[in-house]
Amino acid sequence: MVVIHLSAECYPVAKVGGLGDVVGSLPKYQKAAGITSIVAMPYYDRQFVRENDFDIIYNSEIRLGNAILPFEVLKESTDKLGYPLHLIRIQGLLDRTEIYSYPDETEQFVAFQLAFLEWLLQFGEMPDVIHCHDHQSALVPFLMNHSSRYNSLTNIPTVLTIHNGQYQGWFGWDKFHYLPDIDPWKWGMLDWKGCINPLAAGVKSCWKYTTVSPSYLEELKHNSNGLENLFVMEEAKSQGIINGIDTEVWNPATDSMIPSNYTIDNVNRGKQENKRAVCKEFGLALSKPLITFIGRLVVEKGADLLPKAISNILDSLKGKASILLLGSGDPAIEEALAALRLSFKKDYNVFIGYDEALSHLIYSGADFIIMPSRVEPCGLNQLYALRYGTVPVVRKTGGLKDTVIDFSEPEGYGICFEEASSDAITEAVSRAIEMYSNPSDLRLLRKRMMGLDFSWDRSAAQYINLYNSLK
Ligand code: ADP
Ligand code: GLC
Repeated sequence: MVVIHLSAECYPVAKVGGLGDVVGSLPKYQKAAGITSIVAMPYYDRQFVRENDFDIIYNSEIRLGNAILPFEVLKESTDKLGYPLHLIRIQGLLDRTEIYSYPDETEQFVAFQLAFLEWLLQFGEMPDVIHCHDHQSALVPFLMNHSSRYNSLTNIPTVLTIHNGQYQGWFGWDKFHYLPDIDPWKWGMLDWKGCINPLAAGVKSCWKYTTVSPSYLEELKHNSNGLENLFVMEEAKSQGIINGIDTEVWNPATDSMIPSNYTIDNVNRGKQENKRAVCKEFGLALSKPLITFIGRLVVEKGADLLPKAISNILDSLKGKASILLLGSGDPAIEEALAALRLSFKKDYNVFIGYDEALSHLIYSGADFIIMPSRVEPCGLNQLYALRYGTVPVVRKTGGLKDTVIDFSEPEGYGICFEEASSDAITEAVSRAIEMYSNPSDLRLLRKRMMGLDFSWDRSAAQYINLYNSLK
């Protein structure tokens, strides 16, 4: 069986968040389970691309509105990631340094999808499944079914995985002419509330759609940025499959980005050494519980609640904890979090920016990681934290609800809270500090967390069963 994954991100080529981690690792585990998984993504002018060799394996052109755009498909020469990696390059559109946030993002991702389909048209043997990820590739199932240009692709099964339903790729009908001939009686399938909505069109047209946790599948029916009715109507072809993690990249025993490697047997010593390195770098006290947050500083992640929660915690706990944040995003949140440094010099620090190596160091050295997400389709931070023996403190939503059990329950290991509020975060952190004051319990919990298995093996098999059901 051959599956092609289509995505805007794939670690280590280009990553903004968990989508990159998933598409960068799932194909490797699918290969281990016996199928051939291929990745196709836009070309980016990034370190991985500059430092590796690629062969141009195809070139042709697409029509985007009135423009004719030549494109190339490049394949990484050695399959060094464990699967064949393909990049689609279009000068001026798919050769950029950043992944998102360009004013012509619509043109960027429509062009990516059209070039992919043009390439696919001339495959000798067709793949068994096209697996699309998020709205940047969600027009593909629609076009394969409802554009005469791609009639020959209609019988290839399509799967669409929704990593984040908040972003849907909307664009106006004034850009309809970017799309090739669409069967006129199917135009309505592109529309959602007066706009062309790629995610909605993908959900309507794909053979099956999945979400990255079972709870998130349920939540989309009540909270999905306007698509609630669609998710109720299309429920019959949906499935929730929890993400796994790449246990080779995220392995405290071998991780080259942390100063002290450790296993379940010497977790306390290992974490203490790494904590020493983190505390030294950020001017924090080694003796206090180290509480962290890593992630995009956006409302969806509850990052707007952090400034008040941090003030509350550090005011009320009077020097009993240290807090360290790593993230970037909304400038107002960044500014508020940076400003807090003036008030809490000894117990608080923040690194505004994106730094992969620093994230590994923090997962390994921190005692707790907080995730006060309002929406969390799966969440990978809590899974990395568990693997590194760091207690996740999470709001019970989406994938966080599906992966973290409160330590008060039998076999529990994390700290869970219900409300998205600064007070709820403050209260959860007080429980964390209480837990920290009982070293023998914490030691036990660390071992329990590190013994959990969130590797891809189970979920990769679930995807393969899903593909098989489409034959
Ligand atoms: P999302 O995809 O919604 O951002 P996930 O929890 O699925 O959330 O994945 C986030 C990923 O991005 C994790 O690998 C996390 O470590 C990483 N990450 C987020 N922000 C940063 C940052 N500022 N620096 C380094 N890594 C980050
Ligand atoms: C999205 C979600 C996150 C999920 C990731 C990978 O970015 O916000 O919860 O873990 O995709 O599926």
